[in-house]
Amino acid sequence: MDIVPFVSSQSALVRAMEERHSVRQYLDRPLPEELIGQLRRAADAVNEECGTSIQLVVDEPRAFRGFRSRASAFQNVRNYFALIGPEFKQLDQLLGYAGEKLVLYCQSAGLNTCWVGASYKMVKEQYQIVLGQKLAAVIAVGYGADAGKPHQSISPEAAAPQYESAPTWFRNGVDAALLAPTALNRQKFRFKLLDDVDGVPQVKATTKRGPFTQMDLGIAQLHFEIGANAPFQWT
Ligand SMILES: Cc1cc2nc3c(=O)[nH]c(=O)nc-3n(C[C@H](O)[C@H](O)[C@H](O)COP(=O)(O)O)c2cc1C
Repeated sequence: MDIVPFVSSQSALVRAMEERHSVRQYLDRPLPEELIGQLRRAADAVNEECGTSIQLVVDEPRAFRGFRSRASAFQNVRNYFALIGPEFKQLDQLLGYAGEKLVLYCQSAGLNTCWVGASYKMVKEQYQIVLGQKLAAVIAVGYGADAGKPHQSISPEAAAPQYESAPTWFRNGVDAALLAPTALNRQKFRFKLLDDVDGVPQVKATTKRGPFTQMDLGIAQLHFEIGANAPFQWT
């Protein structure tokens, strides 16, 4: 299966990572039925792969009508992915990894997105959360009023002290991780290249404690995998 549903070319994936920026203001333009179908199929594929229950909510403006959404300047958000999965220790990390697949799919389909951990309201009747599951965040999706702009970033050496002396695939992975969205643009993730095991390079990804840092880590790991585009193992 493609690492991102329906996007098989490496150059298209890299372009999606480079062109993606958070967009908080959207045009008053509904998603075409066919595209809604595609987004649902993409979510199904990601859920199947990751064991999540991410659901697309269409034409539902209430989640983004509260004080918190206005304070963060969200406008015209009517569609979003509800990031739902089984309650366990690594849920945030898993949903980060899974949700970013959908973000990159949306970007390559001409849509804009924004990860939202805090600036939204729950509208429970719009999605199904069964016992033992949790909604951890949402991703706003739609036609952006603009394309957003690149974020300020820490240096590659700050994210991976071995960066200068590391092989190209590892550096490409770190570069791609630095394009990833993180809550409050905190970029707390770190990558370390370890000794090979049975000829396979090992990479350790770590982060600090704090709200959404595990979700950020999962997002950054997906970017790293796409950027590296080479065999290695997470350890
Ligand atoms: C897990 C997560 C939660 C986020 N929560 C919010 C939020 O509640 N409100 C908001 O306005 N932006 C939120 N963001 C968007 C970040 O502010 C944004 O990704 C960051 O500033 C980097 O900018 P970029 O996405 O344009 O690269 C969140 C991002 C992530 C990854």
